[in-house]
Amino acid sequence: MSDIPFKNPGWAGNVGEYDLTEEQVRGIDFVGVRPLDGGHASASATYPFMLEEKDPDAPLFEGPYEIRFEKILTRYPTKQGALIPILNLAQELRGHISPETMDRVGELLGLSSAYVRGVATFYTMYNKRPVGRHLVQVCTNISCDLCGAQDVLEAFLKHTNTEMGATSMDGGFTVIEAECLAGCGFPTCVQINSRYYENVTTEEVPRIVAYLRDGGAGAASAIRPEGGA
Ligand code: FES
Repeated sequence: MSDIPFKNPGWAGNVGEYDLTEEQVRGIDFVGVRPLDGGHASASATYPFMLEEKDPDAPLFEGPYEIRFEKILTRYPTKQGALIPILNLAQELRGHISPETMDRVGELLGLSSAYVRGVATFYTMYNKRPVGRHLVQVCTNISCDLCGAQDVLEAFLKHTNTEMGATSMDGGFTVIEAECLAGCGFPTCVQINSRYYENVTTEEVPRIVAYLRDGGAGAASAIRPEGGA
C-alpha cells in the first residue's frame, strides 16, 4: 500500500520535481497496515484517523482498542486530560460521537456526561451524527474560496449525488463545508476522511469520486500525473 496517485496527495515532498512516496516521507507506519494497537503511546494519542468502515455499535474499547485506550491514558496526568484523544478513538471506531458514546466515554474517564458533551459539541471535528464511508470536507475559507472552492464543493455534491451535510443513498459519501484546513497554499484543499487532497479543481472531482467509489483501483491510472508515481 503506497501512495494515492493524485498530483499532490498532500504530503510534503511529493510536489514539483520530487517523486517520493508517503512511506518515504512519513515512515512506513503512517500508512498501509497501521499497527492496530496504535504503535507508540504518543502515536496512539495523536494519529488523526478515520476508518472507511465504521460501526456505530462498536464496543468501547476492546482488543487492540483497549490497548490503545490504555496507552493514551499513560500520556496524561489525569483521565480528564485524555478526553480529546479518547473521543478521537471513539469516532475512529464508530464514525460519529452520539450522546450514548459521550456517556460511555464519560463513564470510562470518570467524567460527567455534561462535561463530555461540552467538549464534544465544541469541536466540529467530532461528527455528531452518522457520516458516509467517505466524509468529504471542502474548505471554503478565504484562500480556497478565491480559487474556486464553491465550484469544487458544488462538483462534489453533484458527483456524489447528495446534498450538503446529507449522506448519499449508497452510504458512500457525506459532503460538508469546512473552515480553513491549514492548506491555504494549495487551494482548494479538501479533506476526505483522514487524508488531505490539495490543489483540487472541479475537473478532478469526478475522478476523485470515481477513485473512492472503486476503492482506488479503477481510476488510478486516470488520475496518475504525467510521469508520476
Ligand atoms: S483557506 Fe482553505 S485551507 Fe486555508
